[in-house]
Amino acid sequence: MITLNNVLFKWHKQQAKPTLSIQTLKIADGEHVFLHGPSGSGKSTLLSLLAGINIADSGSIKLLNTNLTALSNRKRDVFRSDHIGYIFQNFNLLPYLSPLENVMLGCQFSKNRQRKALQQSASLEQEATRLLNALGLTNEHHQQSVADLSIGQQQRVAAARAFIGSPELIIADEPTSALDANNRTAFIELLFAQANIAGSTLVFVSHDTSLQSLFNRTISLTALTEQAA
Ligand SMILES: Nc1ncnc2c1ncn2[C@@H]1O[C@H](COP(=O)(O)OP(=O)(O)O)[C@@H](O)[C@H]1O
Ligand SMILES: [Mg+2]
Repeated sequence: MITLNNVLFKWHKQQAKPTLSIQTLKIADGEHVFLHGPSGSGKSTLLSLLAGINIADSGSIKLLNTNLTALSNRKRDVFRSDHIGYIFQNFNLLPYLSPLENVMLGCQFSKNRQRKALQQSASLEQEATRLLNALGLTNEHHQQSVADLSIGQQQRVAAARAFIGSPELIIADEPTSALDANNRTAFIELLFAQANIAGSTLVFVSHDTSLQSLFNRTISLTALTEQAA
């Protein structure tokens, strides 16, 4: 699913030390990966490289056998829409739209994901409804403005948006940091259930190591970058 080789990345050219230096990293199809590291260690930066939002200064990042570094900006945007669902730390929902509208936006730029969504349900709206319910947001909240939802409810909308159209890779950047421990575990179980239905690989970032036992693989970003140093 994912292969990184000799990846270097700096936010600013004049930095003495790269923000990220990773010799090798492989993530297999279907894995549920827990990626942890202290605040500022580069977790979000790595996710942005995996999603092709930022580009490595050197080295290669392959997803589904496509080298992201070699794609034009436009092709990389299409690739991301087609194959990646991203749950951002602050969710990035459109506040004036409803949960249903936000979830349907998840496949707006991808014919590929629209087609897959319509294999699951008769319409995109039905599929968005199914996903919101599966992630624990009940029907009474589907039409109201997202701005009126609690953080926990917004998180479910962000997850449903990532899953619509069954992308091969789901990336989640500390989506549980605002939840209490019981809700975190329950939410992660719902993510796993959807990832299994969709056949998606899951890369989940958190600094909270108490969550790692739920995952089938744990990667320490500090250990990864030290290995490269
Ligand atoms: N957009 C950005 N511009 C410049 N520097 C950044 C940017 N985002 C993150 N950084 C820097 O990169 C380093 C890693 O940050 P980040 O990837 O956000 O860490 P984490 O997600 O592990 O907390 C930090 O030193 C941070 O200041
Ligand atoms: Mg971060």
